[in-house]
Amino acid sequence: MQIQYQTGHFEDIACDLLGFCVFEDEGSRSAGFKHLNRLTRGAAGSVLSSGELKPELHRTCLIHDPRGLKAKRLLLVGAGKKLDFTLARLRELAGTAVRRARVSNSKVIAFLPPAEDSTHEVARVCAEGALYGNYESDIYKTKDKEGKDVDCFILLGSKGVSSAGMDKSIRHGTIIGDAVNFARALGNEPGNILTPSQLAERAAKIGREVGLSVEILEREEMQKLGMNTLLAVARGSDEPPKMIILRIKRQERAHKKRAPLYALVGKGVTFDSGGISLKPGEKMEDMKADMAGGAAVVGAMVALAQLNPRQRVIGLVPTVENLPSGKATRPGDVVKSYLGKTVEIINTDAEGRLILADALAYARTLGATHLVDVATLTGACVVALGNVNAGLLGTDQEMIGRILQNRSITGEKLWQLPIDEEYRKAITSEIADIKNVGNRSGGAITAAKFLQEFVEDTPWVHMDIAGVDLDHDGRPFAAKGATGFGVRTLVQLFA
Ligand code: BES
Ligand code: MN
Ligand code: ZN
Repeated sequence: MQIQYQTGHFEDIACDLLGFCVFEDEGSRSAGFKHLNRLTRGAAGSVLSSGELKPELHRTCLIHDPRGLKAKRLLLVGAGKKLDFTLARLRELAGTAVRRARVSNSKVIAFLPPAEDSTHEVARVCAEGALYGNYESDIYKTKDKEGKDVDCFILLGSKGVSSAGMDKSIRHGTIIGDAVNFARALGNEPGNILTPSQLAERAAKIGREVGLSVEILEREEMQKLGMNTLLAVARGSDEPPKMIILRIKRQERAHKKRAPLYALVGKGVTFDSGGISLKPGEKMEDMKADMAGGAAVVGAMVALAQLNPRQRVIGLVPTVENLPSGKATRPGDVVKSYLGKTVEIINTDAEGRLILADALAYARTLGATHLVDVATLTGACVVALGNVNAGLLGTDQEMIGRILQNRSITGEKLWQLPIDEEYRKAITSEIADIKNVGNRSGGAITAAKFLQEFVEDTPWVHMDIAGVDLDHDGRPFAAKGATGFGVRTLVQLFA
């Protein structure tokens, strides 16, 4: 999809659809709407006055062949309450307009944001939202394909705002929007296609295109390094494990080696059956997306490589498949981690923390001074926070604060959970240094406590995205399936 910025009168824009946002509590009273109503000889106003459209958030109404406009269709989009308006919401509104345009087979659409000024943030989030809305997960359909992609999204801006600066912001938004959709596409891939080897290959391919150096650690190297908690998870599968390491080439050349180094670490379980501690069958297919954290890290690194982040950042994605077999790890097995701590594996379904333990410790060997991990880690987090908020835990309260602050821009909801020392005793093992599960209570927290053993004193943030990586219902601004959650939060931290 091509995205461009244009100023001028919206009535003069020739397009298949013009998206016009209306605040719920303002309705037809805004100056802009009055102007629209005059131009359309009352058509826009009567949609509201008749009660056909209550401009609640994401409700829409389509008017064909509106008088007074060059647009073939006028789409009124409910923008919710004016006071609740944020950049995050604007991103969604752009997405809603695009998805409604897809349904009406509109190829060229213009979008008038309800924002007073055309700021760079406005352009950036509109581009992100338009790309998000235009994504569809139909690559495996051989018929009934929608084939309704919007080809061109014209962002309408206020006069006098230079289009040169806005083009740069649109490019910024396009980089992020494409990276999010890349992560979504990975999350939607089935486990038979997206094996650990495939995930590594796809990361290598896109990495080459954007200026990342991609290093892949093979099983043999990981054996030499002693990454036995990671290897314990991979044992049951015929698919070899990989450790994907992403570096931004431009940053490798700049030798400011003393500066902080942030490592983004994403859980890359391409399919999680639970292993010998086999999961029940219901919804097991969702476990094809158990690499969503890894996808978010690849997506974020792809975006950052193009955006020139302020800080040094690297990405690590430990990727494995968790299956039962005659070679698989058994409950009760004890393994020695890369860091040297021994782990009693009580439950082979608590595998994410095992691969992250080695990846987090290895990131520190690579020089990381700050750690951020993203993982579909626990069902307990879903019980606690549902499918709305991701869990946010960790020891770097400064970074946690920034992530929470950024929510109104990124639109990614996270909620902080505690990690008091008292939670640690739940994972004390009788025979090893630590065991990989606690009891039933506080499962999202005890999982984080397990990770904390391997980050030790390095400042660290953990995002448990188990409830938000997939969206089974779809939204007015988004197709069903993988959400790409985490990409925007990670990118916003650095660029
Ligand atoms: N990948 C799952 C967590 C998960 C559950 C993600 C639901 C998305 C939706 C993880 O590997 C897992 O199985 N966790 C176990 C841990 C338990 C054995 C302590 C869980 O949450 O049941
Ligand atoms: Mn599991
Ligand atoms: Zn898992």
